[in-house]
Amino acid sequence: MSASKDRVVLAYSGGLDTSVAIGWIGEQTGREVITVAVDVGQGGEDLEVIRQRALDCGAVEAYVADARDEFANEYCMPALKANALYEGKYPLVSAISRPVIAKHLVKAARQFGASTVAHGCTGKGNDQVRFEVAITSMAPDMDCISPVRDLALTRDVAIEYAEKHNLPIETTKHNPFSIDQNVWGRAIETGFLEDLWNAPTKDVYVYTDDPTYPPLPDEVVVHFEQGIPTAIDGQPVTPLQAIQELNRRAGAQGVGRIDMVEDRLVGIKSREIYEAPGAVALIEAHQALESVTLERMQRRYKKQMEQAWGELVYEAQWYSPLKKSMDAFIEDTQKYVTGDIRMVLHGGRAVVNGRKTDTGLYDFNLATYETGDTFDQSSSRGFIEIYGMQSKLAAARDVRLGNGVGF
Ligand code: ARG
Repeated sequence: MSASKDRVVLAYSGGLDTSVAIGWIGEQTGREVITVAVDVGQGGEDLEVIRQRALDCGAVEAYVADARDEFANEYCMPALKANALYEGKYPLVSAISRPVIAKHLVKAARQFGASTVAHGCTGKGNDQVRFEVAITSMAPDMDCISPVRDLALTRDVAIEYAEKHNLPIETTKHNPFSIDQNVWGRAIETGFLEDLWNAPTKDVYVYTDDPTYPPLPDEVVVHFEQGIPTAIDGQPVTPLQAIQELNRRAGAQGVGRIDMVEDRLVGIKSREIYEAPGAVALIEAHQALESVTLERMQRRYKKQMEQAWGELVYEAQWYSPLKKSMDAFIEDTQKYVTGDIRMVLHGGRAVVNGRKTDTGLYDFNLATYETGDTFDQSSSRGFIEIYGMQSKLAAARDVRLGNGVGF
């Protein structure tokens, strides 16, 4: 089917705003609306229920996709290989889900002949940028609109519209927070959290239990093959299962709670609470295995690449050429990241206490201070002589010119 100007594809969550947006976009633009709901492991309602609701709210077609494995394999695993933590803390939960949702939006737009893609984001956040940049990076011919931002669909209007048109959606239930969640974690913002002094209350958390009162410590062994978790305690797992299993076990120990103020792409600072037990535990384990398997300079340079990768992905560049080049670098570093990591999950932390690998660079005979030492200590003397040469010369100059260090 060729693209025509009269259809809009809408990213649909099944909630109030996007349910109202179906009819609202229709009225405001005179075009038919096709909804797209993507399962990235957010839990909650069945996709079929969401599909039916979209049709009941006036969508001409309702596309649903179970993208859980796709999300885990192609989005979470690259984030894990990159140990990606924006501003040193945030595992990019929402930032990595937008590109996969955008991919399905474009797919549906092609399938149903739409030339415009709509999403439910406001005009203040990162997600509008991520959706639109991802969409036009895959389909430069697409237009993007946001009913909230561009068509004046405020919350009050949404409630009034839903009641007037008898839409099959709850209008009275008002969540105190804005929440986005998927298998990689959960993001909670707005409401009383906007006051930076307010500590998060218990009801903020769903993926994690309170780490103040942990159950008995839980020891887990994660096996990685080339940077990907492939078994937990000896049981083979897919990436999706690995994340789910660690969400459950690390979540029970309160691992992965994050309370931070972050810098959005649009220049606003915002208070965010995250919980990402599986992601945080996996990154901890993956880093530990890399510490044994990556060559020193490669590891040091990768660290810089990881920060740049995280910033790029946070800032809506998932499908950019630079991101692809970085992925190639990161992929190459993972060649020998194979082995077992043992961790204790307890009291809000995932602590590594054992590593085993056949592809590591740790050499017991070089490292040991016991018998069996094969390191020739006499070679260090000459090494230090040359290594310290430049600083020694500079210090001698200071002394000569009376700018000595003062002792
Ligand atoms: N600030 C985070 C990000 O930009 C999370 C945004 C998710 N949205 C939400 N409604 N909590 O990736």
